[in-house]
Amino acid sequence: MTAPTADAISDKSSLNTKHVVVLGAGVIGLTTAISILESSSKSNYVVTILASHLPNDPKSIVYTSHWAGAHHLAIDQETFRTLWDLSAQGSDAEKCLMRIEQVEYYHEEIPVDKDSGQARHHLSWYPDDIRSGVSFNTLTIDTPVYLRYLHQRFVDKGGIVLRGRVDDIRDLKELQRLLHELQPTASDVQIDALINCTGLGSRTLLGVEDDAVYPLRGQTVLLRAPWIKFGRTISSKGKEGKDDLWTYIIPRRSGDVIVGGIKTPNDSFPTPRPETTIDILRRSLRLCPELLHPQPEKSAEIGSGTTQLSIDSPSIPNLDQLSDSELLNLIEPLMVEAGCGLRPARNGGVRLDVEWIESTRRIPIIHNYGHSGSGFQSSWGSATRAWRLLEGVL
Ligand SMILES: Cc1cc2nc3c(=O)[nH]c(=O)nc-3n(C[C@H](O)[C@H](O)[C@H](O)COP(=O)(O)OP(=O)(O)OC[C@H]3O[C@@H](n4cnc5c(N)ncnc54)[C@H](O)[C@@H]3O)c2cc1C
Ligand SMILES: *[C@@H]1O[C@H](CO)[C@@H](O)[C@H](O)[C@H]1NC(C)=O
Ligand SMILES: *[C@@H]1O[C@H](CO)[C@@H](O)[C@H](O)[C@H]1NC(C)=O
Repeated sequence: MTAPTADAISDKSSLNTKHVVVLGAGVIGLTTAISILESSSKSNYVVTILASHLPNDPKSIVYTSHWAGAHHLAIDQETFRTLWDLSAQGSDAEKCLMRIEQVEYYHEEIPVDKDSGQARHHLSWYPDDIRSGVSFNTLTIDTPVYLRYLHQRFVDKGGIVLRGRVDDIRDLKELQRLLHELQPTASDVQIDALINCTGLGSRTLLGVEDDAVYPLRGQTVLLRAPWIKFGRTISSKGKEGKDDLWTYIIPRRSGDVIVGGIKTPNDSFPTPRPETTIDILRRSLRLCPELLHPQPEKSAEIGSGTTQLSIDSPSIPNLDQLSDSELLNLIEPLMVEAGCGLRPARNGGVRLDVEWIESTRRIPIIHNYGHSGSGFQSSWGSATRAWRLLEGVL
C-alpha cells in the first residue's frame, strides 16, 4: 500500500476510500491501526491515530503501555503466533522480543480442568512449599522498544499520527475541527468511523463515560541483569481472595529485567511507593536469588518444556535479616528505575463492540478498550476483532 497523501485523502474519485480515526496510541491503538491498514480488503483505508500520549514520549502514568512487563502466557493464541513469528532471528521486531523458558511455581498439584483436560491456572504461594511447577517456552516483550516499532510500522505503511486530546467523542464537528487544525492539508476529510482505544482514558471521555472502567495499579522495578535469561513467576491468592501477591521476573532482550509486582484496584497514586519497591525487591530476590549472582552472558537458549520442581538457588544473605537500607544497598548496582502504571481494568472485561453516534452524520464507533493486565498478550487478537467489526459496518 502506498502512503496516502493529502491529495489521496481528499480525492473524491476514490469512492471506496474510508477515513478511520483511531483514538489512542497505546499497544491497543497502534496494533488496531496497523491491522486495519494491513488487512483491509474491500475498502481502501486512510487511518489516522489521534492521541494525547505517543510512544516516544517520556514514560508517564497516563500511558499504561510503557509500563507492562510483558511476558506472554499464550492467553490469546493469535497474538502468540504473531509475536512468536516476529521474535524470529532476522525479523524487523527481533530487538523487541526474546524467547525464553518460563517457569511457574504452584503451591499444590496443578488442578486439571474437567472440560478442557488442561491444567488450570492456579494461584498459590511461595517457593518454600512448592509442590509443583510447570515450565514452557514463551517470549517477553521490551515494551517501550516494541511500541516504537509498532509506531514506525504504522507510519511506514502510510498511517498518520497526530497528537491531540478529545474531550467529547460525540462531537464530530469538534473532532473534525481538531483534525483540520493538526493537519490543515487534510481539511475536507470526512470521518467514516472512529475506533476507541483510549484505555483508562475512556473513563473520563465525555460521550463514553464508562463507569465499569477502573485503574488496577501496578508497580515494578527495572534491574540491569543481563545474565538472567529465564522467566519465573509465583502467584498466590492474597488475603480476601485477591490476587494481590504475584511475583514475577521478566528478562528483556536488552539485558534489563523487570521484577514485580502488585495489583491494587482503584489506586491511582502516580509515583512508585518506596515501601512497595522494598516489598517487591524482597519477594523477587527470594524467588530469583540468581539476580545477585552475575554470570557471564550466555546465549538465550530455550528449554524443552519439562516440569521443574525445585529452585536451584545459590546461597544469598538471609533476606529477612536485612534492613531495608541494607537490601537497597545490595541491589543498588543493578537498579535502573522503579515505576508504576495503571492497568485499564473493566468490570465485564474488554469492550469490543460497535456503537453508532449521531452528530453531523451517523458514524460507527468501534470500542476496543479495557484490557487490564493483558493488553500486550491479547493485542493482535483484539485488533483483528476490531477490524472485523469495522469491515462489517463500513
Ligand atoms: C506493571 C504492569 C505490568 C503489566 N504487565 C503486562 C503483561 O505482562 N502482559 C500484558 O499483556 N499486559 C501487561 N500489562 C497491561 C498492559 O500494559 C495494558 O493492558 C495495555 O498497556 C493497555 O493498553 P491501551 O492501549 O489500552 O492503553 P494505554 O497504553 O494507556 O494507551 C491509551 C492511549 O489513549 C490515549 N488517550 C486516552 N484518552 C484520550 C483522550 N481523551 N483523547 C486522546 N487520546 C486519549 C492516550 O494518550 C494513549 O495514547 C501491565 C501493566 C502494568 C501497569
Ligand atoms: C471510549 O471509551 C471510553 C471508555 O474507556 C469511554 O469513556 C469514552 O467515552 C469512549 N469514547 C468514545 C468516543 O466512545
Ligand atoms: C473499583 O471500582 C470499580 C468501578 O467503580 C468497582 O466496580 C470495584 O468494586 C472497585 N473495586 C474495589 C476493590 O474497590
